[in-house]
Amino acid sequence: MNLPDQDNPNREIYNTAYSGGEMSLFTPEILTYDREMIRLRLELLRRFGSGKIVLDLCCGTGSYLRQEWGQFLNAVGVDFSRKMLEVFKRELGEEMPSNLLLLEGDARRVPVRSRTMNLVFSFTSLYYVPRVSLAVAEISRVLKPGGVAVFELGNQWSLNTYVSERAHRRQGIAKPFHVSCPAMVRMIQEANLDLIEHRAFQLLPMWGGGPFWLRPLTDWRWKWLLGLKVGGRMLDERLSSLWPLKFLAFRHLFVCQKQ
Ligand SMILES: C[S@@+](CC[C@H](N)C(=O)[O-])C[C@H]1O[C@@H](n2cnc3c(N)ncnc32)[C@H](O)[C@@H]1O
Repeated sequence: MNLPDQDNPNREIYNTAYSGGEMSLFTPEILTYDREMIRLRLELLRRFGSGKIVLDLCCGTGSYLRQEWGQFLNAVGVDFSRKMLEVFKRELGEEMPSNLLLLEGDARRVPVRSRTMNLVFSFTSLYYVPRVSLAVAEISRVLKPGGVAVFELGNQWSLNTYVSERAHRRQGIAKPFHVSCPAMVRMIQEANLDLIEHRAFQLLPMWGGGPFWLRPLTDWRWKWLLGLKVGGRMLDERLSSLWPLKFLAFRHLFVCQKQ
C-alpha cells in the first residue's frame, strides 16, 4: 500500500524540529504525575515482555526500550525518523546490544514479518499517525497468536486535541491525528484483538499552551493535584475513567491480546 508523506508532515518534523532530548524520561523537572505514568508503562513491559520477543513501535530515541531491553529475549525498535534512531544509537554508546535491532519504517507498514512478536508496545506516539487503524492492524499482524499489544491512542474530543493542533500550527510541533473513543474500540475489534484493559488519562492537557483564556484549564500545575493517588490510582485516571468524562479524556491506554 502506498503511504504518501503528503498526508503526514511528521517525519519531516521529527527529523528537523526535534533534537531527541524532548523524549528523555527522567528530566530534572519531572513531577510525580510523570513518574507514575512512566512507572505504569514500565510495569506493563515487565509483566508482558520479560523473556519475550518485543517490538517498540515508534520507538523514538528508545526512552522506554532502553530501560528494559535487558529483560527481553529480543527487541526490535521501529521508527520512521532517521534522526530519532540515530540519537537512540548514540545513547546506547559504542556497542549495539546483540538482542536489539533498530529499523527505519512507518508504523502503518511495519518492516517485520507476520506472527513473530510476543509483545508490541507503543507509547506516546500513535496519536501522531494518520489513519491509525492501519497501524493497529499492523500491530495485530506482527503479533503471534496469544501475543499482547500495549498502546496508547489520542481522543479527538479532548481539550488536548485543540491545544495540540494549535501548537502544531503556531510552533511547528508534530501534527496530531486523534480519533474518537468509539473509533478506537472499533479498530481494535477489526484488527482481531481482544481488549483486556482500557485505561483513560489526561482529562486536562496539563502541558500549558492554548489561548490565554484557556490557560486556567491547560496549566501544567494541574499535575500536582491530578497526580495524587486515590485508592492506588491517580486522581486524573479516576476522573478520566468516569462515564461520560472518559469520552473527553485524551490518553487511552489499551492492553489487548491477539486472538
Ligand atoms: C513523542 S515520540 C515518542 C517516542 C517513544 N515512543 C517514547 O515514548 O519516548 C513519537 C515518535 O513517533 C515516531 N513516529 C510518528 N509517526 C510515525 C509513523 N507513522 N511511523 C513510525 N514512527 C512514527 C516519531 O518519529 C517519534 O520518534
